[in-house]
Amino acid sequence: MDDLRFLLVYGLLAGVLFASIRKALHDPKLDSIPTVGSSGFLSSYRDALRFFHHAPELIQRGYDQYPDGIFRIARLFRWEYVVAGPRLIKDIAGAPEHVISFTEGVAESIQTKYTMGRDIAENHYHQQAIRTSLTRNLHACFPDVRDEIICAFDDVLQLQGSEWKSVTVVPSMMAIVARVSNRLFVGLPLCRNKAYLANNVEYTVDVIRSAGRIGLFPPFLRPLIGPFISGHMKSFRTAIKFVGPILEERLKKEEELGPDWPGKPNDLISWLLEIAEGEQRTVNALALRILSTNMAAIHTSSLTFTQALFDLTTHPEYFLPMREEAERVVKEEGWTKAALNNMVKIDSFFRESQRVNNFGPLGMSRKVVAKEGFRFSDGTVLPQGAYLSVAARATHYDDSKYENATTFDGFRFSRERTEHMEHHDPGNNQDIFKHHMISTAVDHLPFGTGKHACPGRFFAATELKAMMAHLVINYDVEAEVKGVRPPDRVFGTRISPNEAGKVRIRKRQ
Ligand code: HEM
Repeated sequence: MDDLRFLLVYGLLAGVLFASIRKALHDPKLDSIPTVGSSGFLSSYRDALRFFHHAPELIQRGYDQYPDGIFRIARLFRWEYVVAGPRLIKDIAGAPEHVISFTEGVAESIQTKYTMGRDIAENHYHQQAIRTSLTRNLHACFPDVRDEIICAFDDVLQLQGSEWKSVTVVPSMMAIVARVSNRLFVGLPLCRNKAYLANNVEYTVDVIRSAGRIGLFPPFLRPLIGPFISGHMKSFRTAIKFVGPILEERLKKEEELGPDWPGKPNDLISWLLEIAEGEQRTVNALALRILSTNMAAIHTSSLTFTQALFDLTTHPEYFLPMREEAERVVKEEGWTKAALNNMVKIDSFFRESQRVNNFGPLGMSRKVVAKEGFRFSDGTVLPQGAYLSVAARATHYDDSKYENATTFDGFRFSRERTEHMEHHDPGNNQDIFKHHMISTAVDHLPFGTGKHACPGRFFAATELKAMMAHLVINYDVEAEVKGVRPPDRVFGTRISPNEAGKVRIRKRQ
């Protein structure tokens, strides 16, 4: 047995003991919340282990019984309180951070302290740069995004003549998304440096993998074993090696010429420097922020594109309508960010793909941090320390919210959008974006909803739609095996597209 396996087994046993003691001391007030599976002293551990491979079914079972309520499911070292229904999801969406904490919820799901470091876990100032400067600059930076998409597809796919090529989608899309994103984060030429990009992709994969492993240990062991499992320190050092000289130069320029020096690049480095304060204005601290933004951007966007591509090749009837739309819009308006707004079929296709292929059965993970707990509008109170999340996938698969909810209907939202605009009151613009990819709602949760809804979604939608338009105009694609979608991988709260899944691509004939 190697060291890691020994530690895993040891951690598991220690955890059962630890959690048994904790459970024995559990809060009886919470017994009124129904349990899906067993709530018995040891039998609930059988369910906690089943959760690893059957979480979607367990949560669906809870949702079917309590579609507008809260139920709980055993996890290895705690209960997961699962919230369903618009009213209670709205309660979470609007709750302040000092009552139920997004940061603490993420700290549990991706073990931020050990996988990304304490500084990132405790200070989130870079999110402000994503929310404001990155989003505001999407129009101005679009020509760069477009340019990088063209070059990245060429370089990564390496297609010759008219031949079909089988392409493994996840690594190819990670490489393309990493490159396109970094065109806006650090600019040319670093955004094309293979070793720099590989470090960002490896870091992204390492965070998710290490978080899963660390989570197998009981909380009291995590500070001891976390640093040995996570490879983040190596990724930090590599990131500093590549981005360090650019950061040094930028800091020097600002010192000599002031914050608005002529020719200052319009990129993430500049947007961070506009708001970074004190000890955040160092090469190491800034390199860490850039690496973390890569982590938030690469994994989510590349897996979203992968799922959409699997959907497209399994439902090839959508291909030509999307090609026709992209060609027509580009002919009329050129390649601009505004033109993407008129690619309503492509937008709808992504929104539907995200609805059907949510990254997991749960979303919006939070921890109750207020001493007095959190009272939902139906009177249920969760105490301080409780972990909660939303039954996102079951919500998306609910026939009362979406007609034929379990069926993939790529143009569902473009049809609804057209109908909506036909009956739209021109004096009321409130719901104008309701069916767009970037719109969040209590029944549409791929980006979460409310206070912590993903601030990168405007960039993600721009990047992904521009990539899809480029793909359908310039390439032909088909499934590796006709009609067969590579099966998703399910582990605990994660559902990921098949990492070995392939599609066939050739240059457009
Ligand atoms: C299709 C791609 C993406 C998906 C599906 C996605 C999804 C999400 C989700 C589900 C959340 C948590 C919401 C919640 O718990 O309420 C989130 C948060 C976040 N995302 Fe994204 N994301 C994507 C792309 C991006 C990109 C490109 C960036 C950065 C450029 C980014 C940066 C962030 C940040 C900083 C947060 C934390 C927000 C906060 O603390 O308030 N995301 N994202």
